[in-house]
Amino acid sequence: MAEPKKLYIKTYGCQMNVYDSERMAEALGGQGYVETKTPEDADMILLNTCHIREKAAEKVYSELGRFKPLKEARPDLKIGVAGCVAQAEGEEIIKRQPMVDLVVGPQSYHRLPQMEQAVRSGTRALDTDFPEEDKFEVLKERPKSKRGPTAFLSVQEGCDKFCSFCVVPYTRGAEVSRPAERVLSEARALVEAGVREITLLGQNVNAYHGHEKGLAGLIWELDKMDGLERIRFTTSHPNDMDDALVEAHGTCGKLMPYLHLPVQSGSDRILKAMNRKHTAESYLKLIARIREARPDLHLSGDFIVGFPGETDADFEDTMSILREAGYGTAFSFKYSPRPGTPAAEKTDKMVDPDVASERLYRLQEQISSQQKALQDSMVGREVSVLFEKRGRLDGQLVGKSEYLHAVHAIAPESLIGEIARVQIKESGPNSLGGVLSA
Ligand code: 5AD
Ligand code: SF4
Repeated sequence: MAEPKKLYIKTYGCQMNVYDSERMAEALGGQGYVETKTPEDADMILLNTCHIREKAAEKVYSELGRFKPLKEARPDLKIGVAGCVAQAEGEEIIKRQPMVDLVVGPQSYHRLPQMEQAVRSGTRALDTDFPEEDKFEVLKERPKSKRGPTAFLSVQEGCDKFCSFCVVPYTRGAEVSRPAERVLSEARALVEAGVREITLLGQNVNAYHGHEKGLAGLIWELDKMDGLERIRFTTSHPNDMDDALVEAHGTCGKLMPYLHLPVQSGSDRILKAMNRKHTAESYLKLIARIREARPDLHLSGDFIVGFPGETDADFEDTMSILREAGYGTAFSFKYSPRPGTPAAEKTDKMVDPDVASERLYRLQEQISSQQKALQDSMVGREVSVLFEKRGRLDGQLVGKSEYLHAVHAIAPESLIGEIARVQIKESGPNSLGGVLSA
């Protein structure tokens, strides 16, 4: 049998890219590739890129530069760029970087096997189409090999919301949902391979309409699946949190009490300029409704500071909503103009970069303090932990609580892939420590 070829994939950005990288590796598996963790021994290097924030393209070019010596030493080495920078820059990458053999967008990576054949025969391949066919229909069933206890499953891609700062509607295209039966069959295969927790992914996942009852309908179908113990989903838009999904948070046993629901800003003026189509108040009311259904819900969010025109008062509104909504964690970013988006044209309203940095610093301090307080409040409580792997200490396992806190405890290795009750005893910088409940 021929020696397998080696594939090195480097993944940037969101969980959807992590999922896409797995699928790309599987697609190239059919071409005789196995994954390697080091670029030095790879026959193909793929960068799966992200375009969401600052200097994305420049970062890709500089990363490519690092592979130049490898390519010079082994001209047979093939180098590809995938993901959202590939989509946005396409032809430009081929022109600017002669050592790139292949450029493939996020909607066309099912064509990688043919593209790989083309590059092996010495041509360069570019595909940034939004093809008619659904890539998931073309990709083979996922391999049955044993997997870890948690997995991502992509159910929806693209976005029709057009927040004025965001490239996603351009790089990932219009909102498309995978039919529920396809999602369920992929979920079943994951569970058979050992997965106990599935995180449903989509750029705007709660706009999912591949089931007649929307995302809640899909979640309820998954709730019935034997062997699957936990369901999560990310990322959502507040305006797509329908009643059924709010209710599922209270009644669906497998749906975990953790929700990532970005608000971006606490100022109505800025929310309007961002084209978010909701207000701070409507967001807070929604959170109150979800908490009514599930009082112990842990809320996570995304924030942008320094959006064009943001004043000190607007920023204070953001600080207020951070406290009022009671986030247990949040991700925060300094606004960066993305080419082609409406907000990028507001060059006359740009916030001074030092002011933006200072706001980001204050916001992050507040987020850290809320995060720490919430984590500390877990001490003395009993949580459910899905153990994923060995910990740093002998005999220790680590896993995640229902609230997505990392938890470590002394436990037998047979508990990997199992859910156990753990009494929390201590709160460290990045994780909780506990003991198995009697
Ligand atoms: N500048 C800064 N942050 C951004 N995000 C999206 N676009 C931009 C941008 N142009 C952030 C948002 C989004 C998260 C994934 O990235 O907060 O929710
Ligand atoms: Fe981007 Fe999310 Fe807004 Fe869609 S809802 S445009 S993905 S920030």
